[in-house]
Amino acid sequence: MTKEELCTLAKEAMKKSYSPYSGCTVGAALLAESGKVYLGCNIENASFSPTICAERSAFASAISAGERSFKALAVTGGKNGEIDGAFYPCGVCRQVIREFCADDFPIYVLGKDGIISLRLKDLLPYSFSNEVM
Ligand code: THU
Repeated sequence: MTKEELCTLAKEAMKKSYSPYSGCTVGAALLAESGKVYLGCNIENASFSPTICAERSAFASAISAGERSFKALAVTGGKNGEIDGAFYPCGVCRQVIREFCADDFPIYVLGKDGIISLRLKDLLPYSFSNEVM
């Protein structure tokens, strides 16, 4: 699967976003080693703090299906359904990704000017992980 295809799936996932409070719609597509793709969207809550981001929603779905190894993640998002500059994974999501993925794990962020190709270590340098535990 190409990064473009994975980003297209993230765009599809973005359409499922439940975000009545922020108006930010975010979608994620997570490619597992098995070849299956798990989608996630942000799910907001009237009490705000229980909100779950698209990336963690995709990981929750994949881990619940029995996956443990991953090849790549694509993320996209914006205001009111339009893809914005670039929606990078938040700090909490970066740490959750690190639980299951190595430093060089590829992350593709689809912004309005195209795909930004990153590695997890670009977003989370000097990370704390289960490798030291
Ligand atoms: N959001 C994500 O889904 N992923 C991120 O990495 C950043 C933020 C969502 C959470 C919330 O619903 C909205 O974007 C505004 O913070």
